Amino acid sequence: MARRVVVTGGSGKLGRAVVDELRTHGWKPVVVDKVPHPDREVASVVADLRDLGQATEVLAAVDSRFRRVDALVHLAAVPGPGLATNSAIFENNLMTTHNLFTSAVRAGVNTVVWASSETLLGIPFTTPPPYLPVDENYSARPESSYSLAKHLEETMAAEIARWNPDMSLTALRLSNVLDDTDYARFGEHQADAARRRWNLWAYIDTRDGAQAVRKALEHAIPGYRMYVIANADTVMERPTAELVAEQFPGVPTNREFTGNETLLCIDKARRELGYQPTFGWRNTTR
Ligand SMILES: NC(=O)c1ccc[n+]([C@@H]2O[C@H](COP(=O)([O-])OP(=O)(O)OC[C@H]3O[C@@H](n4cnc5c(N)ncnc54)[C@H](O)[C@@H]3O)[C@@H](O)[C@H]2O)c1
Repeated sequence: MARRVVVTGGSGKLGRAVVDELRTHGWKPVVVDKVPHPDREVASVVADLRDLGQATEVLAAVDSRFRRVDALVHLAAVPGPGLATNSAIFENNLMTTHNLFTSAVRAGVNTVVWASSETLLGIPFTTPPPYLPVDENYSARPESSYSLAKHLEETMAAEIARWNPDMSLTALRLSNVLDDTDYARFGEHQADAARRRWNLWAYIDTRDGAQAVRKALEHAIPGYRMYVIANADTVMERPTAELVAEQFPGVPTNREFTGNETLLCIDKARRELGYQPTFGWRNTTR
């Protein structure tokens, strides 16, 4: 029987791709968002998840359409610093996550996958990273209220997993979420590497981000885990080794960089989730 998954933020940029991915892989997604999903074929519930009552209700049941939820994918958030005031972002993102995690506990929804962020790696790297490529093996370095909320969400998840040993909570530290519309403008930054130095020239295609979400659901095991999720290449035409030498001289490197390989290490996601990015801007006709 198809497994029911609540997808918060399912009407958004990444959420729409996640819904498509889950629908084509045997899941039954139900979108929960402040705005309805554009496709009327997709089950969609409008809710403001800052409200605990609404968060609790959508994980327990929504009228006669469903009575049991098997998993939660939580993407609802203001998706970056500067899009609202710091305190509005902090409050919206942290409280929705607390409401959903605690509601999942109450409703017995034991599988949770949610969007954390590459910002925890130290973006915008005004302070250079400790080494390259960056990975999951150094302490979080939030540099904004947005990132601080994501950091506290990961901290919260670790404690909730400790309190509830049957639960699986997986954080995906997603890179900058991009799609074909963004790729159409990729010529603009090629002449000046400093323009996208802030996130080490990384990105995640919506479809590959969606694959990571699905695979995290499929590989859920009890406990808290987190993964860096990016595409295998950069947004640049210039080779990665050249970018590093120019923009991050003196930063230790853990490997020799080949071609345009990403500086956000995705080895752990490949190894443990079977994540295999296949889309991206180089495959897209621009
Ligand atoms: N966009 C990026 O570059 C990026 C990078 C890393 C991580 N992320 C994370 O990925 C997730 C999805 O990002 P996106 O780019 O698809 O953003 P988006 O803005 O396109 O989608 C987010 C959705 O969340 C909904 N939402 C926000 N607050 C809500 C609330 N209180 N109640 C109900 N719905 C609410 C919005 O209506 C929107 O549809 C977010 O958690 C974001 O922080 C995004």
